[in-house]
Parts: sequence; C-alpha cells; structure tokens
Amino acid sequence: MSVKVSVIGLGYLGATHATAMAELGHQVIGVEVDSKKFDLLSQGQIPFHEPGLQDAFAKHLSAGNIKLTQNFDSDVASADLHFICVGTPQRQGSDAADTSYVMASAKALASHLRPDAVVAGKSTVPVGTATELQKVMSEIAGFDVNLVWNPEFLREGTALEDSLRPDRIVVGAWNEHSLDVIKTAYAPILNLGTPFLVLDVPTAELVKVAANAFLATKISFINAMAEVAEVSGADAVSLAKAIGYDERIGNKFLRTGIGFGGGCLPKDIRGFMARAEELGVGSAVEFLKDVDAINLRRRDRVVALAKSELGDVRGKRVTMLGISFKPDSDDLRDSPALEIAQRLSREGAEVTVHDPVSLSALSEKDPSLGRESELVEAVREADLVILGTEWKQYKDADPELLGSLVATKTVIDGRNVLDVDRWQAAGWKVIALGRSIQNA
Ligand code: UDX
Repeated sequence: MSVKVSVIGLGYLGATHATAMAELGHQVIGVEVDSKKFDLLSQGQIPFHEPGLQDAFAKHLSAGNIKLTQNFDSDVASADLHFICVGTPQRQGSDAADTSYVMASAKALASHLRPDAVVAGKSTVPVGTATELQKVMSEIAGFDVNLVWNPEFLREGTALEDSLRPDRIVVGAWNEHSLDVIKTAYAPILNLGTPFLVLDVPTAELVKVAANAFLATKISFINAMAEVAEVSGADAVSLAKAIGYDERIGNKFLRTGIGFGGGCLPKDIRGFMARAEELGVGSAVEFLKDVDAINLRRRDRVVALAKSELGDVRGKRVTMLGISFKPDSDDLRDSPALEIAQRLSREGAEVTVHDPVSLSALSEKDPSLGRESELVEAVREADLVILGTEWKQYKDADPELLGSLVATKTVIDGRNVLDVDRWQAAGWKVIALGRSIQNA
C-alpha cells in the first residue's frame, strides 16, 4: 500500500531516504530550505557523491514520484508520514550535538500537521530529544502529535542499498496508530523478513548513538593495539586477523590505520559524552574520551612519521592519495587524510591531493591545498607519498610506474591496503601504521 510521505531535510540522510521511499512505491515530497541545495536537487542533481543515488533520485524526480518544495506548504500538510532527516552537527565550541535544526523543522511542521499524521524522527539526537519535540509540537498543533523515533543506520558509499536492505528497522513509538503507519511505509522491507524492533522512544534514540559508539570503540581498540605493536615489533594487521576469527569479536571494524572520520562517528561519540554528562552519568561513557584521543593520535603519528622521513618539511613535495574520510564518498567532514594534509601544508610542505571524486569538494573546503586529478601527475617529483583513503585505484596502482615518477620512493600507507612485497620489490620504502616492516 502506498503512503504519502514528506522528507524534511535533503542532506545525505534525507536525499537517500526520499529516494528509498520512492523506490518502495511511495509518493514523496521533499522539503529543503537551503536554496542552493534545492536548486541542484530540482535539476535532479545530488550535491554529494553517493554510488547509485544520483540515477535513482533523478529517475523518481522526473517520474513525479518525488516532488520538491522549499516551504511547509499544503502538499507537505497532506502527507500521512513525515520523516525529519535534518542534520545534528557538533555544536560550535562544544562537544554537544546541535539539535536546533531538528527543533526548527519540528516547529515549522507542527502548525501544518493533520491530527492523524505521524512524524518520524530519523536524525541522530541526544536521548530525551523526542520527548521534548513531542511536547513542543503538540503545543503548537493543539493536539497530541504522533511522534516516533526511527534511527537510520546507513553508511556512506552504500547508503541506498543500506536503506532498502537494512539489517534491522528500529522504531520507538508511543502509540499503535504510529506503528501501523510506519509498518505500512516499510512493508516491502518487512516482507523480506527484516527484523522490526519496536522499542520505547528513549531506547530507540539511544540505539543509534550506542551503535556508533561501539563501532568507534572497535576501531580505536585496534588502533590502540597498533600503538603497542609499533613499539614492540608486533604487527597489528595480523593481530586483527587473529583475534577476528573469534566469533565473539568478529573481524569487522578492526582495520587499523589513520582512524575514523566523517559526519557521524566523531561527532556522535562527543555528543554522547556531552549528553551523558548532562544526565549526571558522564563517567559511564568517559572511556569514549580515550576512543576519541586514540583516533586523533593516529593523525599525529602520520605527521610525525612524515617529518622523520622528510626532515625539514618546508618546500618538500608531499602527495596525499585520497582525501575523503572513506572511499566511495566525497565527504571531507573530520577526514583524517584532510587533517594530515592541512597540518603538513601549514608546516610548509607543498601538498598535492589526488582523489577520484573529492577534488571539487576540497576546493570549496580548503582551496589552499594543491589538487591534481591525474594520479601520475599527482605523484610526479613527490618527496613522500601518503595513502589517506583506501580507494581501489590506489590498491591497484602500479608501484613500478609510480616509482619512476616520484623524487623519493617512500610511501606511508595510512590504511594498510598496499601489497607491501610488491611495492618493496619496485624499490619503495613502505611505512605502515601498526606494523614493523623491514625495508632495505
Ligand atoms: C557510520 C556507521 O557505520 C553507520 O551505521 C551510521 O549510520 C553512520 O556512521 P559512515 O560514517 O558512513 O557510517 O562510515 P563507516 O563505514 O562507519 O566508517 C567510518 C570511519 O571509520 C571511516 O573513516 C573509515 O575509514 C573508518 N574505519 C572503518 C576504520 O578506520 N577502520 C575500520 O575497520 C572501519
């Protein structure tokens, strides 16, 4: 059965969710108040790189399954289900999440709501936010608003696939009617046998931050082992493989390297600590301070390794391979590769960045860094090459060819993806995080 849905906020989460809802056969109205984003979307352009999303979004837009508006107009008011998908970035000058966009869109929506409509929050919020929103919206609407919390677990790079085939759907609800509407919207996914977890609202809010905190902890755990490996002659990559065979530990999210970045894990663990502090249980998640610190120390480590290779970095040519926080994305938010490139540049190195899709995002974010779209040109005359993002193109690159172009055959593999034997055979000095590699 088709439902009329509105999706409020067409950033990463919203644009993906709107497309997924259209794929599931629903009529979608997308609300985007930012004029620049709205104009691009209206032309069928997704303003970020996400495999498969552009084509699917444009297809549904031209078929009229997705309509767009900048206002909470009558079309929005007629929807049965409204998804709030706006961002909750880290607040300026604080660790806490900025929930002002969620609050503003909930308030704007409240005066247009039908009493039987359901509002589903998908944004990642501090626990307790939904209760406050429900109260504020009900006061404006003049009736008890049906609010549910329905966190989203999509990953950048596989966002649409994750939305259409999630490993679970989590909903925190206060009443049966809300659940019925949500179930109708997700029916094609539920019919595949996808686990559907009905929780109380605070638990649903907490599931998302808890999941991200756990994932961040796993990555920082293996990066802490890398720190120990680096001073003891052990190998953190082999260690990860060996412990990962234990099913209780598992081998996912144990890739050691320059650590996690992006628009979710870093700000979510900080927001979680800030919220726990407010609730008087800061010590319960104090360990996340270490998770954050271990993660950031990996960036220091690469800068230190670069300096020890280059001596005085001033005027030295450094090539950064990959600048996004992960492959298949042009997201530069809290990107470890970007921070390392900026730090070396600030210290006087001439940094050239190569990335298959992120150079235009980089020119907006930091035009001071050199950009080169051809890999062979990017490495020409380099005194040091650093692999910052594990794009397949770099794993497959020919070390013989690249070696013939650089000034010095030294590479720091920040993601532990290069075939060390092959690169060494081509005459490279390979430095990797958490590994003691013998170079000739
Ligand atoms: C994350 C969560 O995985 C997703 O469920 C949530 O909805 C949003 O936040 P995302 O930010 O897209 O998704 O990226 P993810 O795949 O989790 O990777 C995050 C960062 O961790 C990347 O910088 C990645 O390079 C790094 N990472 C990941 C590691 O350093 N090692 C690993 O083993 C895995």
